[in-house]
Amino acid sequence: MDPNDLNHYLSSRSYICGYSYSYSDLTLYKRVSCSIHKYGRCTHVLRWISHIRSLIMKDKCPTKEVSSTCFISEGMSLDQVILNTLSEQKEIDSLIFASENGLDHQKLVGAIKSLLSLPKEYIKAEQKQISVWELTDEGKSFVANGSYEFVLYSAVTKDGILQKELMKMPNAKIGFSKAMTLGWLVIDKKHEDGPTVFRKVDDATDVVKTMLEDINTQKKVDEKKIQDLKKRKLITPVVTKFYLVTKGTSFNTQIERPEADLTADMLQDGSWKEKSFKEYNFKAKGAPITSGYLHPLLKVRTEYRRIFLDMGFSEMPTNKFVENGFWNFDALFQPQQHPARDAHDTFFISNPEMTDASKLPADYLEKVKSTHENGGYGSTGYNYDWKISEAQKNILRTHTTAVSARMLYKLAQQEEFRPVKMFSIDRVFRNETLDATHLAEFHQIEGLVADRNLTLGHLIGILYAFFKKLGIEKLKFKPAYNPYTEPSMEIFSYHPGLKKWVEIGNSGMFRPEMLLPMGIPKDVNVIAWGLSLERPTMIKYGINNIRELIGHKVNLNMVQENPICRLNKV
Ligand code: PHE
Repeated sequence: MDPNDLNHYLSSRSYICGYSYSYSDLTLYKRVSCSIHKYGRCTHVLRWISHIRSLIMKDKCPTKEVSSTCFISEGMSLDQVILNTLSEQKEIDSLIFASENGLDHQKLVGAIKSLLSLPKEYIKAEQKQISVWELTDEGKSFVANGSYEFVLYSAVTKDGILQKELMKMPNAKIGFSKAMTLGWLVIDKKHEDGPTVFRKVDDATDVVKTMLEDINTQKKVDEKKIQDLKKRKLITPVVTKFYLVTKGTSFNTQIERPEADLTADMLQDGSWKEKSFKEYNFKAKGAPITSGYLHPLLKVRTEYRRIFLDMGFSEMPTNKFVENGFWNFDALFQPQQHPARDAHDTFFISNPEMTDASKLPADYLEKVKSTHENGGYGSTGYNYDWKISEAQKNILRTHTTAVSARMLYKLAQQEEFRPVKMFSIDRVFRNETLDATHLAEFHQIEGLVADRNLTLGHLIGILYAFFKKLGIEKLKFKPAYNPYTEPSMEIFSYHPGLKKWVEIGNSGMFRPEMLLPMGIPKDVNVIAWGLSLERPTMIKYGINNIRELIGHKVNLNMVQENPICRLNKV
């Protein structure tokens, strides 16, 4: 049988779904597979063989008589099959071999590659590719029914046909223009019945159809014509890559697997001298560590902490989520009727509702009370009745400045004042409306410096130094208000990505009404600033919704896969 004829015959048979085969298929299969080399480039035959073969392998064959050309025993690895076959034949064409043996070509290529990766040259493999033209659906319809131009030409009778009638045929537009260019038809525009089309030649041959048939049967077709057919989208190239495999310089049917480990035994019996060892793969990625992972917030916190420590700051103890109004507000000269002390802004604790009055330093408490009520230290105070019951209320701290207040009070109790630089990074809680960027809890980063004769210039200077360590050099300050600082400044930085100034923090010099009742010496000033940890973290890790960062919707893979944080250093 002529390979091309068989190829053509099989090209029109859809055997992929529901192809049931008969004894004649099997007979043909036996004949073809015996002389498979003849069919090497007949893609349809190869596909058909591989299909039949897969059915035989699945044991769906009506008879078991059919034997394969190369017997593959069950459980034998593909690379072993390749080596065994090479010991008997000179060359393996991966495409043919896969078809012959009902193997998945990709898997066979995988086995070839794994043999190639061995340190010894067991095999040589040369990559080849065949590019065949396959008919598109339109191309196939041309083969079945003729080209549009030929169909149109055939519809024109000896006496001509009205153009508008002719144009009602399917694909008439393309067909008409092609037939006109080919000189098959003429049109009489002034005909009495209206524009009429006549045959210009008596006979026409459907060359396009013939060429497509030739391509289908793998016959040679002129390259320029092929390009025309391709342009008309009647054919597409199908490239198949395959390997020609031959014996290598160290060919052997026994694969000697290189050792992965040098063992004590090998050293003792000297067998290491004969063995080959697997090379180190320095590019291999390390196995993922099955340990805990730092959450992005904690990674960024680590970096901020490092910056503070670099600048000589010491960390304040922040392990006190439950505070009382006294340290969170009163000590900070925040009046008791201030809206921030409302249940809308602050979470109040119901059990225990109050802090024991004995736990609040009595002397200092008296001073705070009188400063709120009547002022002092050059201040007029707020002129209202300060109530200890309000100060005793337990709350979730609304800012880490409560921690700063406790630490400054402690500092004031020392016999002799010594300057300090302190920082904290921890959680605070606010009873806020939740949205994509706000939760009821977040982290604050706070720094403070207490020393004699500090000025606003010092604050601005240290803010520049601090933000420079984060890679932020352009700063602007805007006057602001905090009950506990005067002056106060909001900090803005220029965001090159957003091309605008964005608020990045808040700062100020603590008021004398806050510091002097504590017992801090008169000539000591405290400069301080605060920012959120969430904002730089979300920017750094490209997270847009806070719920992806904290809460039950957090994807643990996000936590495990995110790299460590390195804020720009100077
Ligand atoms: N506590 C302020 C806030 O919650 C931040 C701040 C800290 C402001 C220190 C001034 C000084 O926004």
